Amino acid sequence: MRFKGKSVLVTGAAGGIGLAAARRFAQEGAKLLLCDVNGELLEQVTAELVVDGGEAVSFVADLSDESQCEAMVARSVEIFGGLDIAFNNAGIPTDISIPFSEFSGDDWRKVIGVNLNSYFYCMKAEARAMKTGGAIINTASVASLVAAPNMAAYVASKHGLAGLTKAAALDLIKQKIRVNAVCPGFVRTPMMAPALSMEGAEEQLGAAAPIGRIAEPEEIADIVLFLASEEASYMVGALVSADGGVTIQ
Ligand SMILES: NC(=O)c1ccc[n+]([C@@H]2O[C@H](COP(=O)([O-])OP(=O)(O)OC[C@H]3O[C@@H](n4cnc5c(N)ncnc54)[C@H](O)[C@@H]3O)[C@@H](O)[C@H]2O)c1
Repeated sequence: MRFKGKSVLVTGAAGGIGLAAARRFAQEGAKLLLCDVNGELLEQVTAELVVDGGEAVSFVADLSDESQCEAMVARSVEIFGGLDIAFNNAGIPTDISIPFSEFSGDDWRKVIGVNLNSYFYCMKAEARAMKTGGAIINTASVASLVAAPNMAAYVASKHGLAGLTKAAALDLIKQKIRVNAVCPGFVRTPMMAPALSMEGAEEQLGAAAPIGRIAEPEEIADIVLFLASEEASYMVGALVSADGGVTIQ
């Protein structure tokens, strides 16, 4: 029960890594504000957590809009009286079938808007709400560290997020807020479902990692909870790889 009574915000909570982390936080006593742009799915998972005995409230928002990020954090403060921990995790992929020179400006702005801009908006609002310090964890990626074909917007957004995490960590530690990021490799989530549905894809993606398999979302969630906990009290601005060894080669 490392998070008993703590006010915790999770974005991108309707599925995948966000949902796995929300479940773990609920199991450890947190009071949760769960946010996602997918309202229908978010209501379902929030209800599921409450039935299982968790304390969870949903907030539907498009976090690429700054005012909606501010409203989300304000709601968390209104309901729980403050904010202790934020797991910023919402994200979208890029269409890897589109070559670099044909990728549209609109699609570029959409990816940067969700995967990078929203993290700045969220952290700004969260830092103001964390009056006595706290912990912020961002979901970066292997794409924060290396590039991949036909993924320029995603790679740029996640490299940007790595820099933003370090810069925010430097500024916010003065307010006793620790900012860190987790950098997952391939994880079995709804985002990866189309890729994984192709024959032989799971074996191929798994073989790309020295560990020989893809990750389950719970394996990333466990790292997020560690970074959020007092066990990580000396970790500031770290980009923690959780990629089965992809980036050591
Ligand atoms: N799955 C992987 O292999 C992998 C690898 C590295 C990093 N990541 C990152 O992990 C994070 C979580 O992704 P996931 O794999 O669990 O996929 P996912 O699609 O299950 O989860 C992402 C969630 O973010 C939500 N979302 C998207 N746009 C939003 C917006 N504008 N406002 C609010 N919510 C929004 C989606 O509705 C979805 O529920 C993302 O940031 C992703 O880039 C995933």
